This record gives sequence, structure tokens and C-alpha cells, in this order.
Amino acid sequence: MKASAIIVAAGSGSRLGLASPKAFVTVGGCRLLHYSLATIARVPSISEAVVTVPEGMEREARDVAREVRCDLPLKVTAGGVERQDSVRIALSLTSAESDLVIVHDAARPFATATLFESCLKAAAHSGGAIAAIPVADTLKRVDQGAIISTVARAGLYQAQTPQAFRRPILLAAHERALRDRIAATDDADLVEQMGERVEIVEASGWNLKITTRADLELAEAIVAAGLVSRPVKK
Ligand code: CTP
Ligand code: MG
Repeated sequence: MKASAIIVAAGSGSRLGLASPKAFVTVGGCRLLHYSLATIARVPSISEAVVTVPEGMEREARDVAREVRCDLPLKVTAGGVERQDSVRIALSLTSAESDLVIVHDAARPFATATLFESCLKAAAHSGGAIAAIPVADTLKRVDQGAIISTVARAGLYQAQTPQAFRRPILLAAHERALRDRIAATDDADLVEQMGERVEIVEASGWNLKITTRADLELAEAIVAAGLVSRPVKK
């Protein structure tokens, strides 16, 4: 089966609060976008990449792809206002020849090629599959600084990306969301709301999402310790 990869990298990184957009911030001397593009280039079933960037950053994104020898056919587009808008824009640019689409946040630089492959394989079988990890902490529902209740964590997972779907399913989910003004924080939610099956691919905590300065410092330490490999740049 053929797959298109969507890398969403159009966010500003407001919670990180740095001068450059988050996907262009460096960890271990490589931009976050270098990591995802280097990884998808090593996934055999991925045959093209569509990347969303902040308006005006299109050329930088192409440079990033070239630097990590990501030789996949590449489309780079300005993203939308919200992440969901960026995915919808990118999705409209994916090849109709692709059976599957896998969506990934540039904010998760350490997702492995194996994780991409596992999500694609599961989605080919079931329609949709996302990386996720079981919730480890005890969860509290809070109102005005005080606990209302403890949420049983059995069966609860934290959703990550990559998230893979059969292309027609993801297209239908985004069309419906646009028509019915449904906003979701991930693509799986839109697909779930159509009553489609979305499977979990158990990932690991190494697939961390960079949101805050603390996350960035942790990612730097992980790379410095050699716990994940850094993309090779030319
Ligand atoms: N993203 C995007 N288009 C948007 C918003 C986000 O392509 N309009 C991308 C981001 O670049 C990121 C991913 O979606 O890779 C997840 O979003 P998030 O972690 O929230 O990143 P930012 O929106 O950049 O960060 P913040 O919310 O702190 O501004
Ligand atoms: Mg955001």
C-alpha cells in the first residue's frame, strides 16, 4: 500500500516563546523538522511528503528536506489558523494514488520509523491507527483549584502522533468537520466521531511532544546523552 505523510509544522510555538516557529527551533543542532523528515524518508511505504509551514517559511522547509536527504516528492504549503486547518489543507494536496495518509506533528521529533510503519500497517488493516501510551499518573478533575473527583485511569491512553488512516476515511472526516464546524485536537477524534474504528499502537514516552521550554531542555538532554539518534545533515 502507498502512503502520503503529512508533517504539520505551521504552528508558531507560542508556549515555547522563542523567536522562530517551533518546527524550526533546534535540538542537538538540528531543527525539529529535520528529525521528522529524516525519519519518514526511511519508511518504505511512504511515497510522498506534504509539509505545512508558517507563511513565508516554504523555502526553509525545502532546505531542511534537502539537508537530511529526504528525497521523497515534497509539497510545502502555508498552514491554516488551527492545526486542524493545516491538516485539511495538506490532505487536499495528497496524491489520490495513496491508499493511506499518516499525519505527524513536527513537535514530536523522536518518533521512530518503526512507529510510523506500525501505525501504517495497523491502519491498512483496520482503517485507522494512532500512536498512544497508557496513562501512568492518577488523574484528578479540578474546579477552581480543588479536586472534584478522581478519574479512573484504567483504559485511558494519551494520544500521540503519528496517526494513520485510509485516505478516504480521513478525507471524509475532515469534510464533515468543515461542514459541521467540528473542532478537534487530533485527527483520530474526527474519525472516531464518524463511528470508524481507530486502533492504538503502543508507543513510548520517548516520543515526547515539545510544548514548553522544559520539554525542549529535556529533548536536548536526550540527544546529548545519545539516547536518540540525530539526523545526519549534509
Ligand atoms: N500546527 C500547524 N498549524 C497550526 C497549528 C499547529 O501545522 N495552525 C502544527 C505545529 O507546528 C505542531 C503541531 O501542529 O507541529 C502540534 O501543535 P502545537 O504543539 O500546538 O504547536 P504550536 O501551535 O506551534 O504551539 P503553541 O500551541 O504553543 O503555539
Ligand atoms: Mg498549538
